[in-house]
Amino acid sequence: MNIKKLVAHKAIELVQEEMTVGLGTGSTAYWAIQNLGQRVRQGLNIKAVPTSIESERLAKKLGIPLAVLSEINEVDITIDGADEISHNLDLIKGGGGALLREKLVASISKQLVIIADETKWIRNLGAFPLPVEIVPFGWEITQKQIAKLGCAPKLRLTEGKTFITDNGNYILDCKFNEIKSPKKLGINLNLLPGVVENGLFVDMADIVYIAANTGSVNVYKRE
Ligand code: A5P
Repeated sequence: MNIKKLVAHKAIELVQEEMTVGLGTGSTAYWAIQNLGQRVRQGLNIKAVPTSIESERLAKKLGIPLAVLSEINEVDITIDGADEISHNLDLIKGGGGALLREKLVASISKQLVIIADETKWIRNLGAFPLPVEIVPFGWEITQKQIAKLGCAPKLRLTEGKTFITDNGNYILDCKFNEIKSPKKLGINLNLLPGVVENGLFVDMADIVYIAANTGSVNVYKRE
């Protein structure tokens, strides 16, 4: 059973005619985009806002119409994955490196729907290294400043080369082990010169769908 596909299909049921839909990034969001493509082919009329070049390519391939960014003020619903989800629905995102565009689109979304398998559902955030997008200039200085917040930031590499985000920046993966106050940490990170954005999504998710290996899906809603 493909539980990522299962949970993605469940979330896509929330998409209605005429909506502007934020398209997430990653292996779970992939199935949501595939399913949305199918519904568009069946006649659903929506406009999509992708959160990465990868998701944009997929949407185009599937014939999903894209919104013009300069023409939108809000997004009706965004469906995205996450790397960690705490029981009060705070998130770590950016494992795929798309955190900046994901957060930007989420910030103007009336509803942020998170889809994941049960391995992502945890008590406290922090075991997954927190991705932080930083500017390449003086990145070692930014790395040292971030380390002072209580982690060992590692420059993300891909095939031995520095990973470059869709925005031309670097990513530092910062393992905190336990993040006691995600809100405070997110603010402190973003205050540092050189930091573009961090992967903590606090008070942003409205609905979380968690799929278990058995095929059951639990739904959690922000109170
Ligand atoms: C992309 O940058 C991330 O925020 C993803 O949403 C996250 O890594 C989840 O991806 P998977 O669904 O592939 O686990």
